[in-house]
Amino acid sequence: MIKYLQLQMQGDAYLKCVNPKCGLEYPIMSTNVQCENGHVLDVIYKNKISPDLKEVFYQRRDSKGNIFNESGVWRFRELLNFCQIDTEDNDECSKYLVSLDGAEGRQSKPYQMSKAAEFIGINKEGLWLQPEGYNPSGSFKDNGMVTAVTHAKMVGAKKIVCASTGNTSASAGMFAANEGIKCDVYIPAGQIAPGKLSQAYQFGAQIIQVEGNFDDALKQSLDDAKNYDGYTVNSVNPFRIEGQKTIPFRALEYLNWESPDWIIYPGGALGNTSSCGKALMELYEWGWIKKIPRIAVINSEGASTLSDLYNGKFEDEELRWNKGNPNTELISRYYDHLDKEGLRPKTKATAIQIGRPANIIKGLRALEFTNGIVTTVSDSEMLDGMSVVGLNGFDCEMASGASVAGIKKLMEEGIIKKDDVVVGILTGRQKDAMIPVDYHSNSKNIFANPPKK
Ligand code: F0G
Repeated sequence: MIKYLQLQMQGDAYLKCVNPKCGLEYPIMSTNVQCENGHVLDVIYKNKISPDLKEVFYQRRDSKGNIFNESGVWRFRELLNFCQIDTEDNDECSKYLVSLDGAEGRQSKPYQMSKAAEFIGINKEGLWLQPEGYNPSGSFKDNGMVTAVTHAKMVGAKKIVCASTGNTSASAGMFAANEGIKCDVYIPAGQIAPGKLSQAYQFGAQIIQVEGNFDDALKQSLDDAKNYDGYTVNSVNPFRIEGQKTIPFRALEYLNWESPDWIIYPGGALGNTSSCGKALMELYEWGWIKKIPRIAVINSEGASTLSDLYNGKFEDEELRWNKGNPNTELISRYYDHLDKEGLRPKTKATAIQIGRPANIIKGLRALEFTNGIVTTVSDSEMLDGMSVVGLNGFDCEMASGASVAGIKKLMEEGIIKKDDVVVGILTGRQKDAMIPVDYHSNSKNIFANPPKK
């Protein structure tokens, strides 16, 4: 029997600017993604959430016919309770919470993958890879999209809007279709995987092709959302971040809330990094975990803004959160430098082909809190990472291969130790069929298995 902890559910939630010097607050029904001074916002919960809920979450794995217990996101609903739900009743939950019949996050948990461990050179008991590609739209995005669309419904939005390198648009299109609301997706023309584009079409989203890259598409979508009454569901939306916290929640729960040494993500717009940081900050503050895992963000060599700035490769300054006072001018000068030199992000892993990570500020906060690190991997390293995951019977896309390749590189550099416990997130499923076909046709590739003639 689930003992329902009513007290936990009172937690009034509100929005607050992340900049400690500014700290402007907004009611939970606000649709602002920034404060008046242009800083990003957090969802804040007034009450500490008791670790006694661990038992409740565990019991909900036996869903008892409640799809919100089946859902790997809503199973943890008290830890993201911005809509103040305080019932176990399926019908009552479904009036507020958006879900695809409980499928989001349902299949996600960390797995041990021996071939990947062997390739990386780490103890196989210590390596956990968590596929998020088995979500209903095929990527981790569904975790945060259910929470963003829940908020969109709370405020009565008629249309959701996003820019995307493909997975966000697939997820947004899917939930919009299921909820009967409109969806506009802005995509960089010719730069997203065909499988992702076709999902957006199939779900009936309106596609707007932007001549330029993801960064241009995001700018246009944010402008249009403002001018034409759209509700933005990119990860600049603080409610997206809330749902994505469940990625580390599931990993931690599986590990009996014993923190691993590392959590590894590919880095694009840094929504994942931000949400993992926020999840860990809250869990630590509320006494759910004793140790803070270190986050490692893996950029592609061809789209390495965070790595360049964090590692002091631009103007010799290492960009840091700096107690909420990061050197934003350094970031602006870096972007000006990219523009002036005509440097555009370029990688075959189009999911993370991003030059201006919209969540860089929250990402820096996450790295500071977790003593995190940032590195880069090449396209061919990502392809090998993707391919070895396949040999364990799991499917992931090239950008997700960055997690595997990044762990390998950090091990070789002696930063990750052989006995460390590492959780790598495999962010999305393969949606570009020609990538593995091309990889396996070239016998020079490490894991190539060329066809026989
Ligand atoms: N991996 C995959 C498969 C992605 O689709 C993305 C981002 C990332 C990693 C990077 O995650 O932005 O949280 O750092 N895709 C976005 C999109 C940008 O539009 O689908 P992040």
